[in-house]
Amino acid sequence: MELNLLVLCYLIGSVTFIVGLKMLSNPASARNGNLVAAVGMFVAILGTIFLYEENGQKLGNYTWIFAALFIGSVAGTLMAKRVQMTAMPEMVSLFNGMGGACAALISVIEFRHLVHTSDAASLDQTSLLIIMLGLIIGSVSFAGSVIAWGKLNGSIKDFAFKGQHIINIILLLLTLFIAAHIVINLPIELELYFYAAVVLALVYGIFFVLPIGGADMPVVISLLNSFTGVAAACGGFLYDNKVMLTGGILVGAAGTLLTILMCKAMNRSLQNVLIGSFGGGATTGGSAQTGGTYKEVTLSDAAVVMSYANKVMIVPGYGLAVAQAQHVCHELEKTLEAKGVEVKYAIHPVAGRMPGHMNVLLAEADVSYEKLLEMEQANEEFKNTDVVLILGANDVVNPAAKSDPSSPIYGMPILEVEEAKHVIVNKRSMKPGYAGIENQLFFQPKTSMLFGDAKKALQDLLAEVRNL
Ligand code: TAP
Repeated sequence: MELNLLVLCYLIGSVTFIVGLKMLSNPASARNGNLVAAVGMFVAILGTIFLYEENGQKLGNYTWIFAALFIGSVAGTLMAKRVQMTAMPEMVSLFNGMGGACAALISVIEFRHLVHTSDAASLDQTSLLIIMLGLIIGSVSFAGSVIAWGKLNGSIKDFAFKGQHIINIILLLLTLFIAAHIVINLPIELELYFYAAVVLALVYGIFFVLPIGGADMPVVISLLNSFTGVAAACGGFLYDNKVMLTGGILVGAAGTLLTILMCKAMNRSLQNVLIGSFGGGATTGGSAQTGGTYKEVTLSDAAVVMSYANKVMIVPGYGLAVAQAQHVCHELEKTLEAKGVEVKYAIHPVAGRMPGHMNVLLAEADVSYEKLLEMEQANEEFKNTDVVLILGANDVVNPAAKSDPSSPIYGMPILEVEEAKHVIVNKRSMKPGYAGIENQLFFQPKTSMLFGDAKKALQDLLAEVRNL
């Protein structure tokens, strides 16, 4: 009876993971989707703690288990509550690293269990293979995620030396070779080889992420996320635990798909992200044709063109998130609408620094989802738009992606804002964005610059619009 109840808990867990993941694909249901999956995870954890039995024995160790659950829950809740939206990728990276570490620790514990409970003749090689896979993938994910976290919070700098990629390949091959030797030959010094594989996998994880450009971290984190999923699935396979297996496979698949989608939206191959050192801080040359002349627009002129427009399209970017100007942006939208102006938002899939960044940012300010246009839809509508207001976006509106084959972003689909009648760009200076390249849009006759921090500029613009 109890075993059936446990199976039911796992079934609930697995189904809620799938339903929750599906709900995450729409901004309107994403929050609830997260909650649904969390409830499923809660049920699966409680089921394991209280219902799981091996040889008629329950888990026990309840003080340890609940102390760990308490500490983890308090730390996780505090971190999630305090984190700034722009620091979200680094928190995701740290949490992902913890997942990788758990998967690797499961392998360490199960390896010890296996070798201490069986002799060489009866050692189960399939289990050993799964243990080694979980160990290597989990360790790489842990070490890589911690490095990615350090890079994003600025405590670890990009680091590369000549021939590093060769060393990385050698490290990986050596780790795999030792793992294969353990599984196939069951050497006498089994434990020595096992811990050598742990160390090598950790070093490989560090070296794998260290040379990658800091700004490419979101793609790397998504890739490491998929590694953690696969490592957790190995644990599920090992324990014959269906919910762990389902969860791991879902995370692995979702992380892989997200990695592919991000690369596609930037028109870059994964290989280019991993060895390209793109956007690592310095200007990534190429197409930068220095300038030309640009013109500025005053707040009152900007307020007039927007207030008397039929249709205004707002293009949010990374700068809007940095300035935390989403609320005042929503106020401006409502004020313009009260004046009879139709206002919509054009969302580029890689605007900002993480997938869905702009959707989450605008949802925080209660901007209606119906107002958010995906890139293809927005590109259809620009020709009927009177004013495009670009708020802290740069690369995602850079026409070099279409016109300059020597540009590092050539081929990346962009928001074709030049199709509109007027373009107003708000940013603090003429400095480039993430890709480190100049944007010819800023020098075009229909473009005017509105310099300043997005929050301050929007507050002032809002005041002007209200006064009209
Ligand atoms: P960016 O090209 O990075 O441009 C952001 C602009 O915001 C900068 O030029 C900056 O100019 C301005 N800015 C910064 N702080 C500001 C503030 N407080 N107020 C006003 N403006 C401010 O951003 P984007 O157009 O959103 O493009 C995103 C880039 O990130 C793309 O190249 C994309 O490939 C890359 N990327 C995205 C992701 C995901 S998943 N979203 C993942 C990896 C890489 P000033 O310094 O002059 O103010």
